[in-house]
Amino acid sequence: MRVVSGIQPTGNLHLGNYLGAIRNWVRMQDSMPEGGQCLYFLADLHAISQPHNPAELRAATLEMTAALVACGIDPDRSILFNQAQVPAHAELQWLLNGTARMGWLNRMTQWKDKAGKNREGQSVALFTYPVLQAADVLLYQATQVPVGEDQKQHLELARDIAQKFNNDFCADDAPVFTLPEPIVPLEAARIMSLRDGSAKMSKSDPSEMSRINLIDDADTIMQKVRKAKTDPQPLPGEAAGLAGRAEALNLVTIFGAVTGQPVDQVLSQFAGQGFGAFKPALAEALVETLGPINTRFRALRDDREALDAILARGAARARDMGGATLTATYQALGLVRG
Ligand code: TYM
Repeated sequence: MRVVSGIQPTGNLHLGNYLGAIRNWVRMQDSMPEGGQCLYFLADLHAISQPHNPAELRAATLEMTAALVACGIDPDRSILFNQAQVPAHAELQWLLNGTARMGWLNRMTQWKDKAGKNREGQSVALFTYPVLQAADVLLYQATQVPVGEDQKQHLELARDIAQKFNNDFCADDAPVFTLPEPIVPLEAARIMSLRDGSAKMSKSDPSEMSRINLIDDADTIMQKVRKAKTDPQPLPGEAAGLAGRAEALNLVTIFGAVTGQPVDQVLSQFAGQGFGAFKPALAEALVETLGPINTRFRALRDDREALDAILARGAARARDMGGATLTATYQALGLVRG
């Protein structure tokens, strides 16, 4: 069992990242059988696909490392690193560029969303971003990749690239790549913005009120929940009653995810009540979950030396682990690795 996943070190870790992905990273780490390994990384190479400030990227990489450790990623058990320190990611991407098809990349919804109407003005990196993502997981022969719903399509692409490479360049009994399986949580696969139930909670939303950050203090969380968009109707007794009420469904989903209950169970508790009663309960549950993470994060974030040491050690282990697959890829393509 080989678990691999990444997060971009842009902006703060928010509740969508946590419930959609990071909580599963921690669970998979904590239940890893003997002989298995988790690798988790900061996707700093992906972060340069859009305009960025170099000094901020460096600071955000360290800050996100502190946030992951605060969430429960243990750098002794998991390999925690940043892509930039492991050149094999960029190298393998180039080797896979020969296999990935333009048509496949053109169909990626994230590319379409981020490029909008201005495709010609985007960086080449934004377009080939999913090939780097494929390299990230294929390099380590990942079997499982815990992600939120929005990354599922990129993982399907990684499987297509792996499959085509194995077909085109490998003997049937000696494939170079393992096909990775996306692991998406049943509940909380897609946490939506607090201001608009049709948009996902995202680091790139200009409104701070749209998301709850893991570093928000209790007062900020209370305020964001109080101001979250809702509707005037009371809560129904079961999930079907939330059809067409995206904001209400989102808040109930969040409550269920942080308290470990399915949506129907939450509704049986609050049926007939309005948001005046529900919102304080939600805010309290969030503060209870995020409070300890917040405290650990604040203790770690300023210790640059310790954070740098964690990343350097993780990168050395990752370089070691990816070496054989990189060599095999060169060989399969008729190239000799230097
Ligand atoms: P990123 O940095 O946007 O998000 C990190 C993880 O958080 C999940 N996520 C969400 N889940 C539920 N609801 C939301 N509103 C929400 N917002 C974000 C994402 O699905 C993701 O799992 N391209 C990736 C980073 C990456 C990667 C990889 C992931 C690079 N290489 C290899 C897996 C494997 C990204 O930008 O995620």
